[in-house]
Amino acid sequence: MANPKIFSLILVSVFAIASAKVFFEERFEDGWENKWVVSDWKKDENTAGVWNYTSGKWNGDPNDKGIQTSEDYRFYAISAEFPKFSNKDQTLVFQFSVKHEQKLDCGGGYMKLLSGEVDQKKFGGDTPYSIMFGPDICGYSTKKVHAILNYNEANHLIKKEVPCETDQLSHVYTLIIRPDATYSILIDNVEKQTGSLYSDWDLLPPKTIKDPEAKKPEDWDDKEYIPDPEDKKPEGYEDIPKEIPDPDAKKPEDWDDEEDGEWTAPTIPNPEYKGPWKPKKIKNPNYQGKWKAPIIDNPDFKDDSELYVYPDLGYVGIELWQVKSGTLFDNVLVSDDPEYAKQMAEETWGKQKDAEKAAFEEAEKKIAEEESKEDPAGSDAEDEADDAEGEESDAETKAGGTSEDADDNDEDEFHLSPEKSYVDQLVTYSQETVDYCGICPAIDFFSACLSFMAQL
Ligand SMILES: *[C@@H]1O[C@H](CO)[C@@H](O)[C@H](O)[C@H]1NC(C)=O
Repeated sequence: MANPKIFSLILVSVFAIASAKVFFEERFEDGWENKWVVSDWKKDENTAGVWNYTSGKWNGDPNDKGIQTSEDYRFYAISAEFPKFSNKDQTLVFQFSVKHEQKLDCGGGYMKLLSGEVDQKKFGGDTPYSIMFGPDICGYSTKKVHAILNYNEANHLIKKEVPCETDQLSHVYTLIIRPDATYSILIDNVEKQTGSLYSDWDLLPPKTIKDPEAKKPEDWDDKEYIPDPEDKKPEGYEDIPKEIPDPDAKKPEDWDDEEDGEWTAPTIPNPEYKGPWKPKKIKNPNYQGKWKAPIIDNPDFKDDSELYVYPDLGYVGIELWQVKSGTLFDNVLVSDDPEYAKQMAEETWGKQKDAEKAAFEEAEKKIAEEESKEDPAGSDAEDEADDAEGEESDAETKAGGTSEDADDNDEDEFHLSPEKSYVDQLVTYSQETVDYCGICPAIDFFSACLSFMAQL
């Protein structure tokens, strides 16, 4: 028989995986539609986007499909239910893979866990959720992993910066929350951030505070330097004039005392003059340091040993706004076992990532070749084309009688032009707007954001 020690080790690890609890797992194989409900959210405004069941334009395995956003400037909402569970006393693992085939310039790639009863047909940006997790990109400034935890009906953003992946390949995002109220965030099975729910979110009021009652004692000496009492003003210091007659000045030869009056030399600053006298400063021998209020226990702090607990988890959902579509989700997992999640990531993303990268590079090459075929003379031809277009639109402007003033007015208002990327247009407004746009999808106020921008 084989070495019994090794044999039992294998048994233990098989047992460990076998004992993993899988609350939800979705690899988007045949029949996935029966588990997922596309929401009617935004349908009556005609801004609900369609999901495409596909492996995408490049992939490591054309038969391994996921769901991809397929229309620009659209809202997307879809969810799946699983048997309700509480993560009390157990680890919670939430994992999925996401690929932004478009060069994502403003949009989310995150997923949500929801609790209680959710009307899946109405699931949308306003539906309360328990956890929101995943990448969010907007403009140049927002490229981060969101980890928003709902606690006592308020959403709390993670306070640590966790950069997300920004390329056009699949990546696996994993959030682990443990019963000791610690967490980890992994991308592609590599830990990117870890810490405590207590310190990295403001879920509870702080444990300790500066004593608000404490006052600086009146005789507290917090002057680090004082005037030297020994230093005396030198005698005659006050007699030094600020300005003196210029010793180099000469009476002009043609100066006529009778006609011009008596000649006086112009004055210049006196190099001897050092300003009002001040004693020199010395270290204060009685210096007590800067006064600080003593730190006391915060009377408003009440520990919650179940800070990490979501007692009624029951749905995974994707709810997004996408300026440019092309985000593909796959391999969703809700489990209690980080090791199981790691293996699942290896089996899916891990096995396919090299082939996917090769396919992506091939696709990029093809696009470049086609572009050079269409445009053999290169950028010169493009410039000419641009010039021609410019002339054309000038002509149009004249013919149509549209004045330049009208164009200026257009810029004052916020208009979306379908030909141009949303963010390109935002950039012409201000970086602040782009930043604002970046946080909007994260905190589910995107419609508010749009109307805010409409006022700019
Ligand atoms: C779905 O994705 C595939 C692969 O990228 C693409 O060829 C197809 O046109 C897409 N369908 C829709 C409806 O967008």
